Amino acid sequence: METIQIGMLGLGTVGSGVLQMIQNNEDKVLNVTGRTLNVKTVLVKHPDHHQNVADQVDLTTDVAEIINDPEIQIVLELIGGIHPAKEYIEVALKQHKNVVTANKDLIATHGPELVKLAHDNHCDLMYEASVAGGIPILRTITSSFSADKITEVKGIVNGTTNYILTQMSQQGWSYDHALKKAQELGFAEADPTNDVMGKDAAYKMVILSQFAFGTHVNVEDFVVSGIDHLTAFDVQQASKFGYVIKLIGIARVIGEGVFVEVASTLVPNDHPLATINNEYNAVMVTGQAVGDTLFYGRGAGGLPTANSVLSDITSVTKNLVLKTNGNQFNNYQRQYIPADPQQVAYRYFLSLTMPDVTGQMLKVTQMMTQIDAGFSQITQLEEDGMAHVVIITHQMTQEQLGQLQKLLGDDATINLEAAYKVLK
Ligand code: HSE
Repeated sequence: METIQIGMLGLGTVGSGVLQMIQNNEDKVLNVTGRTLNVKTVLVKHPDHHQNVADQVDLTTDVAEIINDPEIQIVLELIGGIHPAKEYIEVALKQHKNVVTANKDLIATHGPELVKLAHDNHCDLMYEASVAGGIPILRTITSSFSADKITEVKGIVNGTTNYILTQMSQQGWSYDHALKKAQELGFAEADPTNDVMGKDAAYKMVILSQFAFGTHVNVEDFVVSGIDHLTAFDVQQASKFGYVIKLIGIARVIGEGVFVEVASTLVPNDHPLATINNEYNAVMVTGQAVGDTLFYGRGAGGLPTANSVLSDITSVTKNLVLKTNGNQFNNYQRQYIPADPQQVAYRYFLSLTMPDVTGQMLKVTQMMTQIDAGFSQITQLEEDGMAHVVIITHQMTQEQLGQLQKLLGDDATINLEAAYKVLK
């Protein structure tokens, strides 16, 4: 029976999960693909640190030993980051090796050129694990939604921030305290910047948009905001109105364009995404024919992410058997047209502070009237002569929100502390 030889770049949590899964599930993989899998060589920085697997694999510090090995048919990139992962993948593809990667930063930033290189060299390039780790969402969109017209893909695609937000909401903790706890428990990286600023989620939305709509949008093309300015006060007020605040990535067809955003968002308590807690992720895909579908699971972790990596490896293996490598992972392509801000409309949660004196609310009402927007819910708390006013507006467009922000900015006595959209 033929064995497919794999070269692996990097041996961290996911790489260890891959080795474990290949060992434990040999029979099933053989049954499904007709081949056995073997990780032959692994690129590591410090072979001394990985002696526990030295009897199973060849450890090397020289990438050429993998890329130039004619036996190796699949290169698995698990080192992360842009460089040197990009260069390693490029060389591997040019050597006609199929590539599987979990690298969302790289695919979101340089996806189209790598996809082209893979295609030109008749190789597969697959990256199921790059979005929401253990949730098999990309292959689901590209296969199971291949005929339906997707109108929206949205979700919670970052576990670190979802853990922090869940704790802020359930324990009443401040952002700083919840972040510290997340770090202590190992949910947040020592440097959690990309997670808390929304960038990690934005990379995943770039890839999800490509699969859902066939469009290549760059992270620079849309608004990305994180949770680092979120206050315990706003979380409590949202809760009083019947909402939880979640970091929601959204990509939605509006008119002729696509609206993409990553931002703290109020989610109604009875919405399925409101129930996704702690480090879990969930992606809701809405199709014109099928309606809403929800995919829930772990967004990170060794074995969950390894399962997605193995689904790519078995797909590549089936292609090797059938000699059909070289088709794009996602072959739906359309031009990206940003949605018209006059057509992007949501209700908004506005958190305002102002001196608690006569006439202030009248001014806010006049501004709202000037932009032709209305109040849905409103509450006011008084503290040390200051009024803290929280408003949920009726639906208004991004353009109206921009006008309101300008009017509020021009008034020296009223501060707009936060503006979060409310999920439909
Ligand atoms: N840092 C990510 C998260 C996992 O917290 O969800 C890897 O994408």
